[in-house]
Amino acid sequence: MFEQTPRRTIESLRSQRWLAKDDIRSFAHRQRLQQRGLRREEFMDRPVIAIVNTWSDLSPCHSHLRERAASVRQGILLAGGFPVELPALSLGEVMVKPTTMLYRNLLAMETEELLRSHPVDGAVLLGGCDKTTPGMLMGAISMDIPAIFMPAGPMLNDRYRGQTVGAGTHTKKFWDEYVVGNISKEEWVGLEARMTRSPGTCNTMGTASTMTSIVEAMGFTLTGATSIPAMDSAHPRLASQCGARIVEMVWEDLKPSRFFTRESLINGVATYVALGGSTNAAIHLIALAGRGGLSLTLDEMDAVARKIPVIANLFPAGDKLMEDFHFAGGLPALLAEIRPHLALDALTVTGRTLGENIRHAKNLDPEVIRSVDRPFAPGAALAVLKGNLCPDGAVIKPSAASPKFFHHRGKALVFESAEDMLARIHLPDLDVTEDTVLVLKNAGPVGAPGMPEWGNLPIPKKLLMQGVRDMVRISDARMSGTHYGSCIVHVAPEAAVGGPLALVRSGDTITLDLEARTLNLDISDTEFANRRLGFVAPKRQFERGYARLYVEHITQADKGCDFDFLIGNAPTPEPSIY
Ligand code: FES
Repeated sequence: MFEQTPRRTIESLRSQRWLAKDDIRSFAHRQRLQQRGLRREEFMDRPVIAIVNTWSDLSPCHSHLRERAASVRQGILLAGGFPVELPALSLGEVMVKPTTMLYRNLLAMETEELLRSHPVDGAVLLGGCDKTTPGMLMGAISMDIPAIFMPAGPMLNDRYRGQTVGAGTHTKKFWDEYVVGNISKEEWVGLEARMTRSPGTCNTMGTASTMTSIVEAMGFTLTGATSIPAMDSAHPRLASQCGARIVEMVWEDLKPSRFFTRESLINGVATYVALGGSTNAAIHLIALAGRGGLSLTLDEMDAVARKIPVIANLFPAGDKLMEDFHFAGGLPALLAEIRPHLALDALTVTGRTLGENIRHAKNLDPEVIRSVDRPFAPGAALAVLKGNLCPDGAVIKPSAASPKFFHHRGKALVFESAEDMLARIHLPDLDVTEDTVLVLKNAGPVGAPGMPEWGNLPIPKKLLMQGVRDMVRISDARMSGTHYGSCIVHVAPEAAVGGPLALVRSGDTITLDLEARTLNLDISDTEFANRRLGFVAPKRQFERGYARLYVEHITQADKGCDFDFLIGNAPTPEPSIY
């Protein structure tokens, strides 16, 4: 059982260092709050709660978060707290280039330092688009004050010509059909207005819903928060409830270090694999663990994935969307199906255990949420590969791959960079067949930099015309959680730092054995050694700025791609108020 702690007193809260003293500094702090038009009694002797908001005009998934911040504020006021809204880096997944992953750690740093540098006792974190969830939580775990995550909620379902369509997943499907002329230009332009029907995060089990589900299972959200559609009236009520609950959490001193434990971390892994979630989670989970001073390896995740099958019938592996998942009972219903695999006595932000939170959960639609005895997909959500091509690991999502490629041997066709790939992939005379293994180098954390979601390499047009829709693809990049295909991603170490991927040449033979969890380049050790002698690292692209900091401190995919100086839970001193 978790440890009970005495309730905090107002004098013991960190905000009081700024606000309660009879000195010139506190005078100035109180004066500046009154400059906002506040009365003294509106902020004195109350917990100060930050609403960290990742709203922006270029983050459509979060376009309703200003209104939700107002609801959070209402809940905080009703519970006797003093709300302050702090804007943070928005990270709209689709707009930010080269990739939001380049900035996940920046958002983590910003969240941590926003909370540290201001008079804040607790925080409600408003996010949901892919990197915002791990980014904000990494920062909050490092800061370790009471924090609750409020997911933006998925966008509404959409249908197109009678067919259920999912954000991201169908964009890719329709693009392939457009490339080969099965969709007209007019229809393609018309499709721009479809598949993203309302504000909210992608309605498939992409990275956004994977991560919000994981953090719910790990105890960072109110029960059932993940699947509430962004435009449902329950969503502003959830926001208000988050506001009310965080005030209580401050009095209870319920901070991440009290409930983010090895047990809750494994609950997160179990949830990820049962959902058939995005491969991105394999990176974010390791990074989150690192912030909490916990360890998690790829092999440990593979072991969980071998035990728990995919039971959620959700795009991209299935044919349902997040709204269907919500009506089926949402995450609590899924967790109830995998109850024996969970640490039910793990504490959560509700102040209760996970087991108590899901005690009354019911699966209301067994076609959306299956059971462990009647899984949805034959393949696991995650398989971790090792071999001479990826000594530190690579991952594949078997449930979104073609079973015919689970054991595959093929000739490599190598692209040295994304630019090289884009220049050649659709050439009519490209030497490629369905059995070719497409290899993309220099798309990893250092090489790109930022490890973009380029791992779902396009199928060459000449093969699309022949009806081919999947091939084995290998890269040190990531893959969008909304996508599907036999893509081996996160190869570590990456090519740009001299990983074996850098040594592959077109025409080499590569062997994938999913059952054995191996990925090998079929050349001799001598040949390997000779090629290694000739390795030349790509020229560094950035001499200054954030990208330089990034490439100098980023860890590889198997270590969570956090900055080396941010890992661990060594205490950081509180700021001086002098
Ligand atoms: Fe924001 Fe998919 S683009 S969640």
